[in-house]
Amino acid sequence: MKYKSQKVAYMFFALSIVLLLLQIVYGFIMGFAHAGFDGLHDFIPFNTATATHKNLLVVWLLSGFMGAAYYIIPEESQRELVSVPLAKLQFWSLAAVGVTAVIGFHFNWWEGRKFLEIPRPLDYLVVVNVLLFLGIILVTLFKGKEKTTTAMVLAMGLFFAALLYLPGMVWFDNQSVDSFFRWWVVHLWVEGVWELIMGGILAFLLIKLTGVDRELIEKWLYVIVGLTFLSGILGTGHHYYYIGAPKYWLMVGGIFSALEPLAFLGMALFALAMYRKGEKNHPNKIALYWTLGSAIVSFAGAGLLGIAHTIPSVNIWTHGTLITAMHGHLAFWGAYAMIVIAIITYAMPLMTGRKLYDRPAAHYAFWLSNIGMIGMTTAFAAAGVAQVYLERKVGMSFMDAQKAIEVHFWILIGAATLFTIGIIYYAVNFFQHGLPTDEALVKE
Ligand code: HEM
Ligand code: HEM
Ligand SMILES: [Fe+2]
Repeated sequence: MKYKSQKVAYMFFALSIVLLLLQIVYGFIMGFAHAGFDGLHDFIPFNTATATHKNLLVVWLLSGFMGAAYYIIPEESQRELVSVPLAKLQFWSLAAVGVTAVIGFHFNWWEGRKFLEIPRPLDYLVVVNVLLFLGIILVTLFKGKEKTTTAMVLAMGLFFAALLYLPGMVWFDNQSVDSFFRWWVVHLWVEGVWELIMGGILAFLLIKLTGVDRELIEKWLYVIVGLTFLSGILGTGHHYYYIGAPKYWLMVGGIFSALEPLAFLGMALFALAMYRKGEKNHPNKIALYWTLGSAIVSFAGAGLLGIAHTIPSVNIWTHGTLITAMHGHLAFWGAYAMIVIAIITYAMPLMTGRKLYDRPAAHYAFWLSNIGMIGMTTAFAAAGVAQVYLERKVGMSFMDAQKAIEVHFWILIGAATLFTIGIIYYAVNFFQHGLPTDEALVKE
């Protein structure tokens, strides 16, 4: 760590870990409900559990991205953050809005639009919060000595992510129109601007961990940004197939979304190539595992499992089934959860001066969580294929088909247990680092 103000990232990282643990609790509630044990139904019905599970995911990832920015931007632009008190205020307001939203879901205060369940009054607070965050990051960047490509791509991703929150805040009475613009948020986030955030963090980590020249790494970054925009923007069409949007979206969405895996393939090849080329003597090997792991697992989860159901003739059968959950889990895990965990794993020893990366716990965390998540994805896939067949080919009713596939959820719960043990190892290791300290500052 080179700048005192980087320490503020710790608060965001800690919030991420705590909310991830909480997200998992709601995952289990739904897993058991699917397996036929919905004992908490009167207090936490499925709609509450699913809204809470997904919104906690989004908030902990955003908190991780913000922490990453507070850590990376000072180092890249070579100056302290413009204001640490404001960054702390931004942290507390983010936590307050998140907690209020989650409590609200339990009292039926929600909007029922998947991923955008947060009620609109709270959306305005989110906007104020994010503007404050962007203000601190952008002013720091523009007052800084350097404006590196890595920092600019990261900042651009964060800026557009904020801008693309707005289409989800407009009120539409028409269901199709509402759905049309909901995808501007959901799709253009995960298959557009969040990829820039991921690319920026990935480039930063590869520069630090492999020692390869910045010029080379940043050239790759341009290619990835190019591929993302080329495929991802019109790729939104893969959500416009059967919602009442014009028919040409079948063609446009099919073709462009089928190109989207290229951006993820680019990231995987890029990370592996830099790993091969670099000196492999950075002591924090486990941070490198998470970094390479993110690039590779995101290609599997987003790229391969994305293309598995993006063609209109397939999607007409699989739409909104557990096939979507199969893809959603591995894609979110690989691309965004793992890159957030990678930057946390890299930054914690540098912020606290405690080098806990060689511990077996750090390795158990990596392997158990990844093996568990692959198991979960497989269980969702088996359940999803059976659901599509029974419900949509055989014509069984929704609930009868769900009953018939209950067994797959015991497999899901087994794999999720492995996953959770891995995350608990991670969380314990994280908190054992203690708090960040100025003694960990290094001068170059
Ligand atoms: C113990 C771990 C977990 C369990 C047991 C679990 C279980 C579930 C279940 C049962 C659903 C509902 C599926 C349905 O619609 O019926 C769900 C939804 C979802 N979960 Fe998890 N989950 C876990 C962890 C995670 C993690 C770590 C992530 C992200 C990295 C994640 C991301 C999602 C997403 C994105 C959805 C919505 C899927 C869709 O769009 O259909 N979950 N989860
Ligand atoms: C990291 C990147 C990605 C993440 C995190 C992600 C996550 C998700 C999630 C959570 C959903 C459910 C959304 C909802 O119903 O509101 C979804 C849907 C979908 N995704 Fe992705 N995705 C990613 C990349 C991709 C890519 C690259 C493709 C195509 C190659 C793809 C194809 C699809 C399709 C076709 C659907 C619609 C499923 C349905 O009809 O129910 N995704 N994705
Ligand atoms: Fe999409």
